[in-house]
Amino acid sequence: MHSPGSSFSYGAKKAAEYTCDARHFAIIPAMQNRRLTPLDRLLVGANNALKTVAAPAGRTARANPANAIAEGSLDSLEKAHAAGLMRVNHAGEVAAQALYQGHATVARDRNIEAQMQRAADEEFDHLAWCEQRLSELGEAPSRLSPFWYAGAYAIGAASGILGDKWSLGFIAETERQVCAHLEHHLDDLPAEDARSRAIVMQMRDEEEEHGENAIDAGAADLPAPIKKLMEITARVMTRTAYWV
Ligand SMILES: [Fe+2]
Ligand SMILES: [Fe+2]
Repeated sequence: MHSPGSSFSYGAKKAAEYTCDARHFAIIPAMQNRRLTPLDRLLVGANNALKTVAAPAGRTARANPANAIAEGSLDSLEKAHAAGLMRVNHAGEVAAQALYQGHATVARDRNIEAQMQRAADEEFDHLAWCEQRLSELGEAPSRLSPFWYAGAYAIGAASGILGDKWSLGFIAETERQVCAHLEHHLDDLPAEDARSRAIVMQMRDEEEEHGENAIDAGAADLPAPIKKLMEITARVMTRTAYWV
């Protein structure tokens, strides 16, 4: 757990883990000297959306956790199943990018905005690692990525407009649900697929941290019907992205 106001030391600790300064996305007015205009934000947001859904993820800031792990001997059915699960995870990371970008765009507190950007940077590594694994398994990301991005961005911005504590509450609940879902994938991945498992384990640990940071920063507890709705939406996305 992180204590309130610990976001700076958290950021410094995370920065020390990075192997290079490969910032893929650029929203972060908090790290710039001037406030972005609404038009700046729109253009940066459009650029980030295109990078997420239409460009190869490219260089990550941190090494892929599967790098030192040998490829397992998967038969064709196991490969297809692992690819389906990793496509679901990739779609989740596309949505995570959009959510964090959407939240950060409307965040009122600059510290929260910066915290969201740090999380978005880690989510980008997750996105790239899933993409790399999918390619190793001979498959591609979901063809519905633009749809996942647009939906999640709208939800992120809408909850952000209600205020930071609701936006953080939304993040905390999203990350909680994602952790549960990744735990399920750790059980469900083929036993031989240690490379996918290493990626999913690191993602699970970091999603947990994102959720704790959101709670420490003052997340509100969302009403039960909203949590339920989020679960239903996530179920639609995961069931569809497994196949498409
Ligand atoms: Fe993630
Ligand atoms: Fe996360």
